[in-house]
Amino acid sequence: MRKLLILGLLLIFGQAGVVQKIEAQKRGARRTVAVQKEIQSGVASGKAGKTAAQKADSVLALMTLREKIGQMNQFSGIEYNTGPWQKDTSLFRQLSSGELGSILNVSGAEKTRYYQEAAMRSRMRIPIMIGLDVIHGMKTIFPIPLAEAASFDLEAIRRSAACAAEEAAACGVHWTFAPMADVGRDARWGRVMEGAGEDPYYGALVAAARVKGFQGDDLSAPNTVLACAKHFAGYGASQAGRDYNNVDMSMCEFYNFYLPPYKAAAEAGAGTFMNAFNDLNCVPCTGNEFLLRKILKGDWNFGGFVVSDWCSVAEMIQHRYAKDAKDAARLAVTAGCDMDMVSRCYVSSLEELVKEGVVDEKLIDDAVRRILIKKFELGLFDDPYRYCNQEREKNVPLRADIRQAAREGARKSIVLLKNEHEALPFTSKVKSVALIGPLNRSKSDMLGSWCAEGRPDPVVTVEEGLKARGLKVRYSEGYDLKTNEPVNTADAVAAARECDIVVVAVGERGGDSGEARSRGRLDLPDAQQELVRALKATGKPVVTLVMGGRPLIFNDIRETSDAILMCWWLGTEAGNAIADVLAGDYNPSGKLPMTFPAHIAQIPIYYNYKSTGRPYIPGSPYTTGYTDIPFEPAYPFGYGLSYTTFAYSDLQVEEDMFRIGEPVKVTVTVTNTGDRAGEEVVQLYLRDEFASITRPVRELKGFRKIMLESGESQQVTFTLTPAELGFYNTALKWTVEPGDFTVMVGGGDSEKRLQAGFRMTD
Ligand code: BGC
Repeated sequence: MRKLLILGLLLIFGQAGVVQKIEAQKRGARRTVAVQKEIQSGVASGKAGKTAAQKADSVLALMTLREKIGQMNQFSGIEYNTGPWQKDTSLFRQLSSGELGSILNVSGAEKTRYYQEAAMRSRMRIPIMIGLDVIHGMKTIFPIPLAEAASFDLEAIRRSAACAAEEAAACGVHWTFAPMADVGRDARWGRVMEGAGEDPYYGALVAAARVKGFQGDDLSAPNTVLACAKHFAGYGASQAGRDYNNVDMSMCEFYNFYLPPYKAAAEAGAGTFMNAFNDLNCVPCTGNEFLLRKILKGDWNFGGFVVSDWCSVAEMIQHRYAKDAKDAARLAVTAGCDMDMVSRCYVSSLEELVKEGVVDEKLIDDAVRRILIKKFELGLFDDPYRYCNQEREKNVPLRADIRQAAREGARKSIVLLKNEHEALPFTSKVKSVALIGPLNRSKSDMLGSWCAEGRPDPVVTVEEGLKARGLKVRYSEGYDLKTNEPVNTADAVAAARECDIVVVAVGERGGDSGEARSRGRLDLPDAQQELVRALKATGKPVVTLVMGGRPLIFNDIRETSDAILMCWWLGTEAGNAIADVLAGDYNPSGKLPMTFPAHIAQIPIYYNYKSTGRPYIPGSPYTTGYTDIPFEPAYPFGYGLSYTTFAYSDLQVEEDMFRIGEPVKVTVTVTNTGDRAGEEVVQLYLRDEFASITRPVRELKGFRKIMLESGESQQVTFTLTPAELGFYNTALKWTVEPGDFTVMVGGGDSEKRLQAGFRMTD
């Protein structure tokens, strides 16, 4: 009886519900048409002069609270995932009900069109933004960012990002989660491969170059994408090099050594920023008001939007900072995180939080406005399908000029670490090469981590690169790539004996560096080091190619090899680029953007350290060294040789004394003293001899990459302004203080730097 009553009630109310639903749908449909007209007229009148912000406001005014929150919600497609994720088959429903503002991890002109079509069925017809980690290329893979940084060629770096953007935009992608602007001083942290290394000054220039490359001059152009500077902030300083770990440092250290690259990215116009997973000053970055509202949106006047990292809103619970998902949403939105990547805390809790009066709707409006502005700037309101062009998708990726740019970028990224007995470049006498080690044949490893849509097929291996030049190649495996056990050493040795020269590739695997790839051992496996020793014992010249996504330790190989090239992961054109350098068609010019330790326990090790009250004196106890391992690194930041040699002379500072605010002009003459043309990275370091805070022993404050013919000289001029001469003091104010400064100028051979001094006065 009771059951029947319930059934009856259900039927009556169910019917009524259906009727209500139909009525609501009709009303909704009428409203939708009206809204669409308004949006269209907004867009149309925008064409007649309205700014993206004004257009965003006119759209915002028509949105319900739920729709606004939908814009702040980002979810993952099913293709690639880098963190905890729940399979969600209702993606299309969410899109057409306006519950999503963005999706990530999908690409392809056709596929992205489906998703966009679903979004265009929503009441407001607001296009979604499609994001992907396009870190060093989309289909044509360029060198990993750390390798590219070794080129010290900002134009090549900009160009690489521009090529990646063009390919990504041709494949339906609007937004890349790059550049990573995290300063990395700890090679145990696998993500150093994604950044520009350890130096804040250089890191700032690289971050800006990448932003400009991705975004170009016009975000709505079909060959540009929106950039995202990440991970804000200090992620590179995770303790013990363990990914996702906490960060603890003084604010003075943070402002002077970690903030500059993010700031430069913001100044270069990065449209978005991403939170970091770590905490800073005991507050998770995603809920860190000081970082987001004070520094980024306040001091830097950043007009773009902030996206959380993968689930980092919800992860504030595990940080023991948020009580639950609702609390996490409150903390993140209050702090200034505008979009929630994957965790769904916003979409599940923000409406309630606003209705309860806990979160002011103005915060929601501000976030949505920022997001809509970017959608307008991308041109998505004009044509939501402008990036879904199958014709472009067919023609742009792997285009010959893009591959050529990748090859040029790859050659510039290679660093010559050692070259004795004139082992390199190959002379005309070299006709046959003993090519040892499976990395010489590997295609997939060359792509490195974060290689978007890069596939092994188009990759040129070292073996292919050498054979393409007509060299006779005798291959032998030498060691197993998976187990690192020796494989038929006798055959490798026989190959060495048969050939004119030995090229052996050692290192880690392509996927060994990257997210969640922290490592406690960076020494190359014994089998690799012993193999090089066995090859050397044949008496043939041994050239070692070190491959990896981070500084590695290979002291034995440093001794035994005649020549060493740091080859990183160079991407699609790896083999051609390496062959170009081996054969001398390209004279290596790369310099290390990160210090290479001689021992794991030296980490964190970086060139711009502070001297301490007891600076290291070799052999002297009670100074800041070790009793059992060396103090000096294997190779310092900025190091890298060439097939030619350079001499430095006539270092001059224009005056002995300057007033604060006056530019300081420094000149030096560089001469190519070798017998072939080559590029040099002329590096200027500065030391502030004393100040109101402790200062580093030296800091890079300028560099020029110049090309000199054999015997040619060039005078290089640097101008130091307050931007190079100052620092953040303990009150976190930028200041230039009076006192003595030393400039040190030199090239890739760090032993040969010239010095001069000057004084700043009030
Ligand atoms: C990474 C980000 C990346 C995001 C989306 C996260 O795990 O930390 O750098 O952009 O995933 O793939």
